[in-house]
Amino acid sequence: MYRSAIVSFAAAAATLVARANAHDALPHVAVPACGCSLPPKLSYSKALPNLGEFPLTQVELCYSDSTLDFTLTAFNETSFFFNASQGTNTFIFEYEVMEIFMSRGAADPITYFEFEVNPNNVTLQTFVYNPSKRRAPGTPFDHFAVPDPFADGLGATTELDRPGHVWESKVRIPLGLFNVDNGEAKGTTWRMNFFRTVTSLQMFPNQAMGAWSPPDVADFHVTPYFGHFKFV
Ligand SMILES: *[C@@H]1O[C@H](CO)[C@@H](O)[C@H](O)[C@H]1NC(C)=O
Ligand SMILES: *[C@@H]1O[C@H](CO)[C@@H](O)[C@H](O)[C@H]1NC(C)=O
Ligand SMILES: *[C@@H]1O[C@H](CO)[C@@H](O)[C@H](O)[C@H]1NC(C)=O
Repeated sequence: MYRSAIVSFAAAAATLVARANAHDALPHVAVPACGCSLPPKLSYSKALPNLGEFPLTQVELCYSDSTLDFTLTAFNETSFFFNASQGTNTFIFEYEVMEIFMSRGAADPITYFEFEVNPNNVTLQTFVYNPSKRRAPGTPFDHFAVPDPFADGLGATTELDRPGHVWESKVRIPLGLFNVDNGEAKGTTWRMNFFRTVTSLQMFPNQAMGAWSPPDVADFHVTPYFGHFKFV
């Protein structure tokens, strides 16, 4: 009992140190206005939770007067696996998707926006309420879906290059969803993370999960790991 208490205290302390270090090392990204300078190319190729190999994935982003525009590119794709019977705001994350998590401000988010797109150009968009900031057991984990995304100006355009093993989605997210007035995006700060799931007919329902700023567990909903962004 005593021994295990010491061990778990040491483990907890080690976890805190590891997390504090991860926190210090979080990426900081300057996001330009679209058309002003080249958007940053954020790439990742690490799997959760052990940072093993993962297919190369890339995110580019820039802001306009009223939108945040992304180009999400999945390289080294072999299966292009989706369920053709799934539509908007269904569980497309059970198959292959690329995902954007984002929130305005500098703090580790409690409430944030989640956007997903699959190789069939189907999207899921929802706000997430996650007060433990890591989906801790016994704490709330709620969703507020965006039921009419196309009328709101959310959207994706998706192209598959099967021989080249690439799929790409151009994604547009209105900044008004985050209380940014038209033309007022410059100078705003954000927290974001990016993810991809990989599966196939053979693997399903198992998945490989990749993250741009990888959390310490195989879960995308760990907000202290979201990177820092500034619109410049
Ligand atoms: C992954 O994709 C990149 C970009 O297309 C390519 O250069 C690389 O050779 C690919 N790697 C594998 C293992 O297929
Ligand atoms: C695809 O989704 C439909 C509807 O949710 C489900 O009935 C079906 O079993 C799924 N197919 C596969 C291959 O997972
Ligand atoms: C994909 O869906 C969007 C709406 O999000 C639509 O505007 C577009 O035409 C669709 N098709 C392709 C090929 O991306």
